Amino acid sequence: MIENKQETIVAGIRASGKLHIGNYLGALKDFVSLPNDKTKTCFFFIADLHALTTPFEPKVLKDTVLDVTATYLAAGLDINKCVFFPQSQVLEHTELAWIFNCLLPLGELERMTQYKDKILQHKESINAGLLTYPALMAADILIYKGQSVPVGDDQVQHVELARVAARKFNNRFGKTFFEPKTYMQKPLRIMSLSDPAKKMSKTGDEALLLDDSPEEISRKLKKAVTASEPGKKSAGVENLFLLLEHFGTEQEIAGFRDLQKNETLKFSELKETLANNISGYFAEFREKKKELLAKPDFLAEVLGDGAAKARTVAGETLLEVKQKIGLL
Ligand code: TRP
Repeated sequence: MIENKQETIVAGIRASGKLHIGNYLGALKDFVSLPNDKTKTCFFFIADLHALTTPFEPKVLKDTVLDVTATYLAAGLDINKCVFFPQSQVLEHTELAWIFNCLLPLGELERMTQYKDKILQHKESINAGLLTYPALMAADILIYKGQSVPVGDDQVQHVELARVAARKFNNRFGKTFFEPKTYMQKPLRIMSLSDPAKKMSKTGDEALLLDDSPEEISRKLKKAVTASEPGKKSAGVENLFLLLEHFGTEQEIAGFRDLQKNETLKFSELKETLANNISGYFAEFREKKKELLAKPDFLAEVLGDGAAKARTVAGETLLEVKQKIGLL
């Protein structure tokens, strides 16, 4: 059973491809450590239903869910300390989403910036799910009576809409939900290796992926943009130092900074140190993930068990909601 702790955290994990070290440092690492806080009850789910709002391939979707699961487990998520499951296996999410669809004003949904961006991007296939996406997200959070929601800045507006849904419901049918707050993850900007003016994203050689082999890591770092002279600071060089702050020892950081001051820094040495450290840091991760991916049945079982736990809580909330609105 799930104990009642002081604070309920709900987080949806995008069901999208491989993660890079910017994702790791900015989000995954915190996710993995949050459940160790005994005052928090954590519900983490893979937002596979939200993935249907943009073009997808069934086989890829299925593999992605298993890959995300293996990634989180390999990164150290303790499934005995949190509830971890795929959104689509807890039907209560969609039922509550429908109720919120009937409660939220169309205008509120239409003014969401993500919706406005997406309908420009996917001109040929503007499905209704793109519009009602935040109603499902509100349901994801409120079905567990969530209080805090760790998200990046692009999702803040959606959490505000979840507050609107909670407020409207409470006003009309009696106090049921908390108005959830965003729990901002530390704004960490790891930049692209090949174009340090923009944030690291998942394409080409600009990103170090968690799954990259030591050879890949080394190859990509070798190509990373630096500066024309050893002492010079540039966005590329500072980005490498930012990585060193996360993956280097105090000594290494101080040592390379000194060399930079003296204008004797060799970028190739900085890159080599980084490549060794980053490869070493993720060695266990790579190994564990490989083992997990070789056991898809085990991964499916983990997800199924998580969904069963989630349903006990979601079912109670839905019962209360249905009674309050006159469906039961
Ligand atoms: N929309 C979120 C994203 O793109 C994922 C998500 C779905 C989510 N439901 C959620 C996040 C509920 C927090 C709470 O990242």
